[in-house]
Parts: sequence; structure tokens; C-alpha cells
Amino acid sequence: MERFAPATARRAFLSRTLARTSPGAYAGAEAASLAPLLLNRAQTPEATMKRAEWILGGAALIVTGLAEPAGAASASAVVPAASAIEIWVRGNGPTTGDQSPRGRSQSLSLDALPLVDVERFDAQYDGKRAFRGIALASVIERFAPDLSLDLAILHFANGMAVPVPFRDAAVMRRLDPFIARGMETHRKGAVKTDFFTDIKKKGTMADARPIVFHGNKLVVAERWHPAVAPTAQPGFSPWAHADSLTGIELVAAAPYYRQFAAGTVPPREQGLAIFQQACQFCHGVRKVGAKFGWDFVDPTPLYSYRKPSRSLFYHVAYKPLDAAERGLMMPALKFMTEQDAAILWGWMRAVATEPMPPYAAPPTATAKPPGR
Ligand code: HEC
Repeated sequence: MERFAPATARRAFLSRTLARTSPGAYAGAEAASLAPLLLNRAQTPEATMKRAEWILGGAALIVTGLAEPAGAASASAVVPAASAIEIWVRGNGPTTGDQSPRGRSQSLSLDALPLVDVERFDAQYDGKRAFRGIALASVIERFAPDLSLDLAILHFANGMAVPVPFRDAAVMRRLDPFIARGMETHRKGAVKTDFFTDIKKKGTMADARPIVFHGNKLVVAERWHPAVAPTAQPGFSPWAHADSLTGIELVAAAPYYRQFAAGTVPPREQGLAIFQQACQFCHGVRKVGAKFGWDFVDPTPLYSYRKPSRSLFYHVAYKPLDAAERGLMMPALKFMTEQDAAILWGWMRAVATEPMPPYAAPPTATAKPPGR
């Protein structure tokens, strides 16, 4: 592969398993935790054969899987078989290692579900497209979760975790989330299974690699998200960063967020609120929640990495000038104030230095629904 491949070829080879960034772009502990990911991929003979380096502003991005046939399941640990997603009830107790406890769980083959053809507006493509797929609400309904469960945490292949309060009719009407299994190959063209147009990032100072979908794409009718502060919208939307759905984790919202609470002293409550509005989609705490950005505590407590809180503020509200070269993917959150960052920093220190209360679901939550 030459260095300056034509756009289509480049898209094709980027479209399989794109390693997120070179370990060099990360400091310390994060490089150590990313290294196995890159090594795993490099160890398979095909991956070694197919590895190419795409030079972007001087930073080498390691890209694998050039010649896999379309639709083949990726070898990556985070991407399940192309058409399968997991749905499960979060189990009680703490996260052990990388795994949160699971109650009832099911692997769903999207192709075995009653898929429908629809034309709808997609907030990520910012336009109308023809899709084939199934409404998120009907996938959840088929699983028949206990009534005490009210939050579906949507897990994406890139590690994002976006909560959807699926019992809230107004939210569901507004977002109208739909799991697409394929889309039109061109405007007004036929819908093709497992086909999705990549999303190129235009005019961005951040990482310029396109968002690529494998097996499915979550379609939402608006950039809006109920957890994001009204003043931060529509500039910031978690949907803008999401790729393919891998799992739906069903929880009871109140005990779920209690894990992150670190007490109820007023500034901590505010800190948790800021985390929920601005960070939870990409960052987890002690391996609970999202895994797109670094965990706030494990292995590096980020409050001590970004000290004093002004340093956290600069990181959160601005992008470094070399962000694109370094392949950095965190967007600048321009709505964050220095005071928000100070409150958040206090909360980040609390969750890093105090034990995390384990998730405790309502007693009926993990029960089997009748007749199953
Ligand atoms: C859309 C996803 C996204 C959101 C939202 C997000 N981050 Fe990040 N963050 C990342 C990613 C990805 C990284 C890893 C470095 C990179 O690629 O930019 C990161 C890295 C970090 C780091 C470590 C790197 C450094 O230089 O300090 C800190 C601290 C951080 N984020 C704090 C926050 C805080 C606080 C919030 C909420 C106010 C937040 N992030 C919201 C994606 C996100």
C-alpha cells in the first residue's frame, strides 16, 4: 500500500480493524494498557501481513486487516460477530477485572429479528437516508426487562457508553433510536446489508480518521441527548462520536449512578452531575461505564495526572494544537467553565480515593420474566 492511497482505497483499508492510535501518542500507564491491544492484532499472521502505516501529519497510525472480505467478523475483542449484539441485565456486585457482573443475558442476531426498511433522518449523517433495521425500543421490549430497570446503557465498539432512559416516552419519541443493519449504498440507491458510509470529520482540529461502522449503526433523530446540559447543546453530542452498537446493558438508574456518587456532600453531587452531563459517554470509573477515553481512576487516577484543577480545565475545554497529529479523539468541551472543572476535579479525587459502592439492583431486577 503506498503512502498516499486514493481516498476509496484508504477508506477500504481503514474500514476494518483500525487501531485507535499509536502507543506513542499516550503517556505512561495508558501506553501500557494499549500495548496488548496492538500486540494482539499484530500477532496473527494475517494481521502482520496486512499491517500498513497511514501517515497522518507525521504520526504513524497502525492499521490492520486490509484484505478481509466485507462482512467478515473482525478479530478484535470489542467487535462481536458483525450482526450480533448482546443484551443483558447488570448483575449485583462490583466489577472484577474488566468485567461487570451480568444477570440474564442474551446474544441477539440482528438478522433473525423482524427488520424493516425505513427512511429517516440520522443525526450523525446529518441527513435523510434509507436504512434497514429495528427500533431499539422493540429489541428491549422483546427482552422483557423487569419494570425496575429504566436505563439502557448502549455500549459501542469504540468503548463509548451512552445511557438511554428507555421508559421515558418523551425521550424515546424525540430520539427514536433505531438499530440499522444496513443502509442505501448511495442516495436513493438500494439498501445493502452491512453497508454503511463512513463519516468523515470535516474541519476538525482533532483526530481526522473517519468513523467506520461494522455490522450495524445506531440511528438517532437528533443530536440532542437528555443527559447533556441544555446550554451545551447542540454543540456537544455524544451521538456524534459513536460507532457500532455492541451491547445493551439494562440497569436501574438510581443504584447505577450511586456507584459514582462518592458521598452526597453538595460539591460532590455537582461533580457527579457534571460527569453525567459531559464525561460519562466516554470515560468510566474503576472500569464501570465507558472505555473510549481513559478510566478516571484505573490504572492512573486522572485527578493527580491533571493537577491542579486548572490543568484539568485546559485539557477539557481546549484541544492541543498537535491533537490531529497525535490522533487525539477527545473533543474540546467549550461549554465547561473553570469552576465546573474545579468541582469535577474534587469529585474525581473523591472517586479515586474512596471505595466505590457496588451496584445493588432492586430485588426483582435480575428475575426471569414469566414464561421464559
Ligand atoms: C467524546 C468522548 C469524550 C468525552 C465526552 C470526554 N472525553 Fe476525555 N478523553 C477522551 C479520549 C478518547 C481520551 C484519550 C486521549 C484522546 O484521544 O484525546 C480522553 C482523555 C482524557 C484525559 C486524559 C488525557 C490528558 O491529557 O489529560 C482526561 C483527564 C480527560 N479525558 C478528562 C475528561 C473529562 C473531565 C471529561 C468531561 C468533562 C471528558 N474527558 C470528556 C474522550 C472523551
